[in-house]
Amino acid sequence: MEYIVGNVDFFGRNFNVDSRVLIPRVDSEVLIETTLNQIVPLILKRNGVTNLSQLDRPLRIMEIGVGSGCLLITLLLELEKIGLQKVRAFGIDKSEGALKVATLNAQNLIPKYMELAGKDLKELEFIQHDIFKDDDWIHKDLEMDLIISNPPYIPTNVVQNELDKDVSTHEPHMALDGGLDGFDFYNYLLVDNVLSSKYNLNGHCVMEVGYDQANSLRERIINSRSSLQFLGTAKDLSGYERVVMVETKI
Ligand SMILES: C[S@@+](CC[C@H](N)C(=O)[O-])C[C@H]1O[C@@H](n2cnc3c(N)ncnc32)[C@H](O)[C@@H]1O
Repeated sequence: MEYIVGNVDFFGRNFNVDSRVLIPRVDSEVLIETTLNQIVPLILKRNGVTNLSQLDRPLRIMEIGVGSGCLLITLLLELEKIGLQKVRAFGIDKSEGALKVATLNAQNLIPKYMELAGKDLKELEFIQHDIFKDDDWIHKDLEMDLIISNPPYIPTNVVQNELDKDVSTHEPHMALDGGLDGFDFYNYLLVDNVLSSKYNLNGHCVMEVGYDQANSLRERIINSRSSLQFLGTAKDLSGYERVVMVETKI
C-alpha cells in the first residue's frame, strides 16, 4: 500500500506523518512542557539527585500509543538537553503502520538511540502491543520510571458521526476512538491501575485528556481503589485542563 508522506512541525522539529498515524497536535506540546517543568523535578527528588546526569542507571520511559513518535522522540531529545545520559525507552502501539512511521522519525531525529546500547539492549525500542491484551507484554519484569500517553479519548459515536470530515476520513479511527464515553484507556490504565499491575510503573505518569475530561478523571482516580496518587493537571493556552499527572506512592 502507498502512503502520502507529509511533514509536521512539533516542538520545533520536523516529523514525517502519513495516514497510518494521528497528525501531531500543537495541544500535545503541553504534555511535553508539563513533563519537563513539573515531573522532572519530582523524578530527581524520587531518585535523590539534583540533575538527571547524576542518575546512575538508565531512566526507563515508556509511551503508550506512540503513533508518529512525536511525543517520545521530543521528550528524549529535550531530556538529553537537560542532562539525561542513560535511558531505556519503549514506544508501544497496537498499529504496525504507526510503529513504522515512529521508527522512521527516530532514525531521522535520534539515530543514536536506535543503536545497541550494549548487551543486546537498545536504548529505544518500538514494540507492537495491544494494551487490552493480557499476556503479551514482553518487559513484565522491568519497572518504569515514567509513562506518558496521549491515548484515544473521543467517544465512539463522535468519531463515527460528528468529527470533522477531514479528521474522520484521513486519520486512523484506532488513534481516536476511546470507547463509549471516551474513557476506556483512562479507566483501564489509571482507575484500574493497569499501569502498575502490568507495566510496573514505579514513578510518574503524564497523560493528555480531552478538554472536558480532566475533572471526571480526577474524581474517578480519587474514588477508585487505585494505588495511584493524583498529582494535578496542566492547562493549555485556552485554559482547558489537558494533562493529568499521577504517581505511584512511595
Ligand atoms: C491519539 S493517538 C496518539 C499518537 C501520538 N502519541 C501523538 O500524540 O501524536 C493514540 C495512539 O494509540 C494507539 N492505540 C490505539 N489503541 C491501542 C491499543 N489498544 N494498544 C496500544 N496502542 C493503541 C493508536 O494506534 C495511536 O497511535
